[in-house]
Amino acid sequence: MMAVTVAVLLIVVLLVCVPYLVSIALAEGPAQGSAADASPIFGVTVPRDYKRWELIAPAEEAAPLDELRAVIGNQTAVDAYQAGQFPFPDGTILVKRAWKRKQSPEFGSATIPGAATTVQVMVKDSRKYAATGGWGFGRFVNGKPVDEAQHRTCFACHEARAKSRDYVFTRLAP
Ligand code: HEC
Repeated sequence: MMAVTVAVLLIVVLLVCVPYLVSIALAEGPAQGSAADASPIFGVTVPRDYKRWELIAPAEEAAPLDELRAVIGNQTAVDAYQAGQFPFPDGTILVKRAWKRKQSPEFGSATIPGAATTVQVMVKDSRKYAATGGWGFGRFVNGKPVDEAQHRTCFACHEARAKSRDYVFTRLAP
């Protein structure tokens, strides 16, 4: 009799708690965007608050792209850059923002960001992305990931040119 009471109590407790715990888990959600917005191959998403991140360095791309760019990083990335930590620790996220170059309407010789073109993301997770130097890649246009073929090019170029720097081109701007 005792055992049955305990079992019934246990079931009641489970029935009450499980939906509650599930609702908490769902409310916290994935740290970043939804699965539909994740890059092919890597499952990388655009970090929610990236526009507030710190600048690592600006860059400029010549024609035909003619872009202004800014590489920014999350706190883990900024700390690693400042400490000169190589390779970058797991949890590092680097984002490259890019815009068409535009002439300032107020001042002819000044160049300012025009329309946003792409957002590119590199996420460090040395186990999950062991096959690509520990980095997961994502390229997004209007918040949507580009196709798989484009994602096959990322690591190849970063590996060919920046392998000795943990596959990262950008240096902290002086
Ligand atoms: C043909 C070479 C090439 C390819 C392909 C390439 N990148 Fe890069 N990437 C660069 C260069 C060069 C930089 C340095 C910044 C700049 O010049 O814009 C860079 C910078 C970055 C950065 C900033 C961190 C860093 O390494 O400096 C991210 C994030 C990034 N790329 C993501 C991607 C993603 C995602 C893809 C694939 C969709 C990709 N890249 C494909 C050459 C490449």
